[in-house]
Amino acid sequence: MTRRPASVTVRVPAKVNVQLAVGGPRPDGFHDLANVFLAVGLYDEVTVTPLASDVGDPTAEEPRITVAGPDAGQVPADASNLAARAAVALAARHGLEPRVHIHIVKDIPVAGGMAGGSADAAGALVACDALWGTGASREELLAICAELGSDVPFSLVGGAALGRGRGELLEPLETGGTFHWVFAVADGGLSTPEVYRECDRLRGDAAVPEPEASPALIEALRTGDAVALAASLANDLQPAALSLRPSLAATLAAGTEAGALAALVSGSGPTTAFLAKDAESAHAVAGALAASGTCRTVRVTTGPAQGATLL
Ligand code: C5P
Repeated sequence: MTRRPASVTVRVPAKVNVQLAVGGPRPDGFHDLANVFLAVGLYDEVTVTPLASDVGDPTAEEPRITVAGPDAGQVPADASNLAARAAVALAARHGLEPRVHIHIVKDIPVAGGMAGGSADAAGALVACDALWGTGASREELLAICAELGSDVPFSLVGGAALGRGRGELLEPLETGGTFHWVFAVADGGLSTPEVYRECDRLRGDAAVPEPEASPALIEALRTGDAVALAASLANDLQPAALSLRPSLAATLAAGTEAGALAALVSGSGPTTAFLAKDAESAHAVAGALAASGTCRTVRVTTGPAQGATLL
């Protein structure tokens, strides 16, 4: 008989969208995307432990969720948490009870446009698979990820990838070096559906082209050329995020004035992302952003980062 581990911890990265090209709304309410993801080195850690039969309600079919970290209070600690839904989805496919305690140590900004919730879902899935010995294939894990959310498959694979469809159909991309990033975390979150709705509203009746990945951007990732990457960064959701949160314009300006090669809203925001020439410049940009009073906290990191990894 195989011995099962007492607990499993998985580390999962945040992401920034270096290109987010958004098509018109689809009949299912989603938008077709050309979504170029880059995983960056801010991580959540997800630990799963079997729920002892004498803890809580022994007939309960829901995982127990606890969250630690400065913004833990903003994360739902119930069955609606995407990490709990991941455990339930894997258990259902394998005829198991999801009697598991999921503990999340949160370092990725909450509701910030950096896929923190998606990261926790991918982490819980990989961790439960190891804890329960389900031996799910990569394809099965990716299929469950896609059911859970558009960004969840990327949290599993990490690195850099082009996401098509609603972002879940991934094509890995080559990266030729390390990119230096600064992230300015804003007060409060933005709702992703609201930002997409605002994007549609701002576009009105204008014709929306098919979203296409930029060849120049993919080449810049491949060669590790930060200056070329900076020239190609693009986020179609940025006007919508700025319309809902006009104060982000001052944050973007503060980072650019401090020497960032380029600045953009991360995904649906409100976190803003600054690409720097090197580590030294990243620290200078971070210092200026922190002093500018235009954001809550500042983080310095690099990308690409590894996807969900068993610790
Ligand atoms: O897939 P996920 O649950 O993360 O998406 C959250 C919301 O963001 C969707 O309900 C939808 O309103 C919006 N969305 C979209 N098009 C996408 C991805 C997300 O409209 N490609």
